[in-house]
Order: sequence, then C-alpha cells, then structure tokens
Amino acid sequence: MKPGDTITVCAESLSRHGDGIAQHEGREVHVAGLLPGETGDVKLDYVSRQRLRAHGSVISRRNTHAGRRPAPCKHHGRCNGCAVMEMDVPSQRELKVSELEAHYGLSVDRVVASDDDGLHYRWSAKRVFAGEARSLVLGSFMRGTHNVADMSGCLVDHPDITAACEELVAVANDLGAAAYDELDESGDLRYAWLKTDGRGNVLVAIITADPLATLAHRIAERLELPAGVAWGVHSGRGNDMRGVTIRPLRGRQTLAIELCNELVHVGPQGFLQPNPKTAALAYHDLVRVPAGGFPHGRVALDLYAGAGITTKLMRERFEVVVPCESYPESARALGIKPELVEDFLAPILADPHHPHRSPDLVVANPPRGGLGAEVCGQLNQLKSPRLHIMSCSPASLHEDLQILTGSAGAYNLIQCRAFDTLPQTAHIELVAWLVGKG
Ligand SMILES: C[S@@+](CC[C@H](N)C(=O)[O-])C[C@H]1O[C@@H](n2cnc3c(N)ncnc32)[C@H](O)[C@@H]1O
Repeated sequence: MKPGDTITVCAESLSRHGDGIAQHEGREVHVAGLLPGETGDVKLDYVSRQRLRAHGSVISRRNTHAGRRPAPCKHHGRCNGCAVMEMDVPSQRELKVSELEAHYGLSVDRVVASDDDGLHYRWSAKRVFAGEARSLVLGSFMRGTHNVADMSGCLVDHPDITAACEELVAVANDLGAAAYDELDESGDLRYAWLKTDGRGNVLVAIITADPLATLAHRIAERLELPAGVAWGVHSGRGNDMRGVTIRPLRGRQTLAIELCNELVHVGPQGFLQPNPKTAALAYHDLVRVPAGGFPHGRVALDLYAGAGITTKLMRERFEVVVPCESYPESARALGIKPELVEDFLAPILADPHHPHRSPDLVVANPPRGGLGAEVCGQLNQLKSPRLHIMSCSPASLHEDLQILTGSAGAYNLIQCRAFDTLPQTAHIELVAWLVGKG
C-alpha cells in the first residue's frame, strides 16, 4: 500500500474524528467520508511507516448508511467539531452504544438525552481569534493544523453564545484589533471563553497575548450583550488557559446556573458542563441507584466536586457530605481548601478512626484522564458499599474499572448508562454504578 493507491474497503467503526475505520491488508485505514457499514473506493493519502495505519478519502461510495444525511452546518468539513454530523441523531446514538461495546466491552442500559435534534445545547465555548485585522473570525483549530475554521453561527452553541460571539467579532473588527499569530508571536487577541446561564446572561473572558498594548479594555467597554467581561494574558505557547490569571473588566463575574433545582455559581474559569441540561440528567442519576431510588446514610464523599451540584443533591440524603476539588475558584465556592483527591483520601485511609473512613456512598466525576491507578487503589482500600462514577471518557473509565472490579478490586459493576451530552460529536458521557464486593 502506498499513497495514491486506490483500494476498496468497508468501514467497521468510526474514529473520534468522524473517519470510517476499515481493515485492509493488516492495516487500519481511516477514511474521511465513510460511515460504518459503508463500502467505498478510497484514495490513500498517507501510509504510516511506523504503524500499521493509513489515511484516505472516499472517491465513491457503493452503498449508503441508512442514517446518512447532509451535514446541516455550513462549516462542516473545515470545522472538525461535529465529527458525526453526517448521521441523523438516532443513528449517532446507536453508533455510540455499539462503539462502547466493541472497544471497551461496556454495555449500557440506555442512552439519555435532553433533546431530539441535538442542536444549540452548548452553554460554554472556547474560541480562537484568527484572520486579518478588520476581518477577524472566532473559530477553532482545524485538525492537525494551526489553521482556524470559522465557527460563526455554530449550530450546537446556545443562541446566547452565538450572539455574544457575533458581537465580539464585530466590535474587535470595528476597533481594528489584531489576532495573535503563534508562528511569529505578533498580534494581540488569542482566545475568547464564553459561558451562558441559558437565560440570556453571558460571561466573556478575552485572552490576549500582550499585557500592555491590548484592546481588551476598549472591546469590553463596547460590548453590550455580555453580563460580564473578564480579561487574561497568555503569552506562552499552547492553549491551556487554566493557569491564566483572569481580571474583571466590567459587569458581573459569576453566573448563577440552575441545575437539578439547585443554583451553582460559576466564574470565567470555573468548570461548567458544556451541555448542562443533559449533564443535569446525569447528575440526577449519579446520586441515585440505577432503578431511581435515592440512597441515604451518614457520610458521603463527593470527589472532583467542581461546581458542587452533586454535593448539594447528596446533602438532601446524607448527614455529612464532604466534597473534594483541586481548582481554587471551585474549591472556594464549596468552602473547602483546594486539594487533590489523592491527598484528600490519604489521611482518611491512614486513620481507622477518621470520621470519613466508612462512607456510605462515594461519588466521583473525574476529568478526561479518569481516576488513575493511584486513586483507584485508594478507593479499593476504602471499600465503600457504593461507588458511583461519572466519566467523560470511556477509555479511562474502562481502565479504572479494570482496577476497581478486577480480581484485586473491591467492587462489582452493576450498571452503566450513557448520556448524550455532546450530540453531533463522537463523545459520550457515562455513569457507572459499582457496589462493594463485601
Ligand atoms: C469533570 S469535572 C466534574 C466537576 C463536577 N462534578 C461538576 O460536574 O461540576 C472534574 C473536576 O475535577 C477537578 N479535578 C481535576 N483533577 C483533580 C484532582 N486530581 N483532584 C481533585 N479535583 C480534581 C477539576 O477542577 C474539575 O472541577
């Protein structure tokens, strides 16, 4: 196999980027434009020398997936955000379930979602500024490149976010602001981070490269739609903005977000689920047992508590609920010191008489990397009668479950449920219910 060859393959599954994955002569071939079950004639663009991997694009399809549709978004193809948009939403959900089984052996009892069309659900968005002064756009990096795809009118954004992005671009262009260019390290505007409470109130954080000659202040003065504008400087490479100090420029700096009948307060950098409506359905189930009953008891631990919704929900049923969260802004809102779960659990495990040594329920909602071996080991020692995990990564959940439910593990997995928090993408959120082996 070499670049330029044409081969005929049938896609068996879909990559997280939306490419069909087929097998051919012992190689995994990733094909843009082929859905699982579709056979096509494919031109090879790239054949890896290091790995048994090749990439190609479809020239002609010999059959069509029953759920195939034209992508409803004008940016599809350049913007890589919505990898499975060329399938209707029911087919996307079917595919996500079958991929969970095929790759991770995880079977779910159902897929829960808060909508049928899978559009306008994102309450938070991170965008990159790009383009020439006076014709800037806000968008996202195209896969594997430093080129930015325009995302104006993004169909999965909440209308509040769409409107705030439009106004921000218009004001920045009117003032002649320059987008930061990472290659020659010139320009000013880098990123915009937007959040809404779903009721018309938007927080905008503008991240610039230049601490002095920035137009952020003037932009903030001119913006009329956001309830609050904040500003931070990120002069280094990469796009991790968590370490950036954000200062208020104008208006309010927190949003009161209602989820599961509870209010949580989120600042410009605080954690907000991108799709809070569907996430709320997941939180609801996370603190209950699979059949819907609400466990109760004396002590519960809420690990990776973030905005604190699950802490509040559990406080209805447990005498003591102890949250743990490492991000300072979120920890402050929870009234606790910022702490890593590893450090939080260590003293509890070291002291047999620790007041939190025998929790009746442990809830954990870790970031993408999952709990990891150390925390899984600690949870095995803790031997809680119930452990409920919410996960945004089936791969890391699968790894954690090997440790928690394997021969040395202290738990049995009793049920798993999927939540379609990011329709149009290959992403799926999971809740896994475990009970202690004892
Ligand atoms: C997926 S979010 C879940 C947050 C929360 N359950 C919610 O839904 O609002 C993960 C949270 O864990 C925090 N975090 C990440 N690594 C951590 C660690 N090692 N120890 C404690 N908290 C951590 C992050 O700051 C983030 O708030």
